[in-house]
Amino acid sequence: MLADCGRVNSLPDGAGVELRGWIRSKRHHGRLMFIDLRDGTGVVQVTLKAAELPEADFQAVSSAGRESAVVVWGVVVHDPRAPGGAEVRARKIELLSASLEEFPIKKGVGPRFLSDHRHLAIRSPKAAAILRFRSNLLKSIRNWFEREGFVEVHCPTFITAAVEGGATLFEVNYFGKKVYLTQSVQFYQEAAIYSLGKVYSIQPSFRAERSKTRRHLTEFWHVEGEMAFAGLDDLMRVVERLVGEASAETLENSRELLKLLGRERSPESVEPPYHRVKYSEALDILASKGVQLEWGSDLGADEEKILTMEFDKPFFLTHFPRKAKAFYHMPDPANPELTLSADLLAPEGYGEIVGSGQRIHDYEQLLARIVEEGLEPADYKWYLDLRKYGSVPHSGFGLGVERLVQWLLGLKNIRSAVMFPRTMSRTYP
Ligand code: 4AD
Ligand code: MG
Repeated sequence: MLADCGRVNSLPDGAGVELRGWIRSKRHHGRLMFIDLRDGTGVVQVTLKAAELPEADFQAVSSAGRESAVVVWGVVVHDPRAPGGAEVRARKIELLSASLEEFPIKKGVGPRFLSDHRHLAIRSPKAAAILRFRSNLLKSIRNWFEREGFVEVHCPTFITAAVEGGATLFEVNYFGKKVYLTQSVQFYQEAAIYSLGKVYSIQPSFRAERSKTRRHLTEFWHVEGEMAFAGLDDLMRVVERLVGEASAETLENSRELLKLLGRERSPESVEPPYHRVKYSEALDILASKGVQLEWGSDLGADEEKILTMEFDKPFFLTHFPRKAKAFYHMPDPANPELTLSADLLAPEGYGEIVGSGQRIHDYEQLLARIVEEGLEPADYKWYLDLRKYGSVPHSGFGLGVERLVQWLLGLKNIRSAVMFPRTMSRTYP
């Protein structure tokens, strides 16, 4: 029976199995050999006794290096001494593909070397566990949207005008014309709500951020949603339920992965409701910690970190000043210097994971903001058009997948949350 390495311990004693995988490590004791075999589902110990299998098989495998591919036929034996509680005693083994050279990923190699060899480093059980966790998370996020009646839409990557400010736009030479890589599909989603009501997208966004921090990528996966007839409170309710419920379900479904990663995080620790803290209150909290932030400035990484240390669950930071936010944000009717905006910040120093807000839906008001920001109204013609035909209050959000994975798993650097990271200094492999 073809079996998964990661599930051998759930099979009965004496079961005959066929395993296909790669040699993670090998230990020799004369005519006895132990192999840690991995196949993407987990690792299992395979015991080879020279007396119990064809001599040629034993010889071929004894000289095979790490990451050589093999097929093993053997018998399951439950043994408390085996890692995982069960091993496979080989009766036959075939070397499918011997490694041509010594596998370069070894104990003691530095982070730079690992990044340069990311194509090989992702074979490690820890890297694989993070990728599997990320896959589980995306599955839960998608299921959440589908249960809630959101329609998935797919938006372009080449765009002609900034969503989040010109400073972080990547230029592309498009047949001699200057276009950009998308920072957010928000504007296209705002068009889509008039066609479909509630929409979501899961696709990459690009930021030419000159930030070499542990939480900035130049290409990241962006989960975005937009809803017609929704104000700031409706929006925050949706964001906290999405983040809370999808994260809790993922943690629930990923207990083995968390154990392997040595991460303790309970589904309860992400449960909504989340606190709502106004920008002005945040300034007071910061001042009480001896940090003076000028009213109107956006929070920097340092301020965010200090603030998030005060919380043990994610929390919303709301009502940012107009000048700290992009032009499309709806001014607060109670105080037009503020916006109906809400960032969701992860606790324990991790910081922003979601940016969101209500959008300006009045034509003249939006036009005035575009002009005020020194932007070219012609560049936003189609976006302004949306305010001409049955425009209604609407709100939406963007969630950084890697930021959420980083926080949930407690990863030091965001790069570990993505298979092949793109940063200011890295586009290889
Ligand atoms: O706060 P941001 O810039 O908001 C927007 O792009 C909105 N237009 C989204 C919307 O309302 N549809 O980005 C949203 C989120 C951030 O909270 C963060 O999680 C992630 O995207 N993000 C990044 N993640 C990794 N590296 C970067 N350089 C990121 N920039 C933003
Ligand atoms: Mg933001």
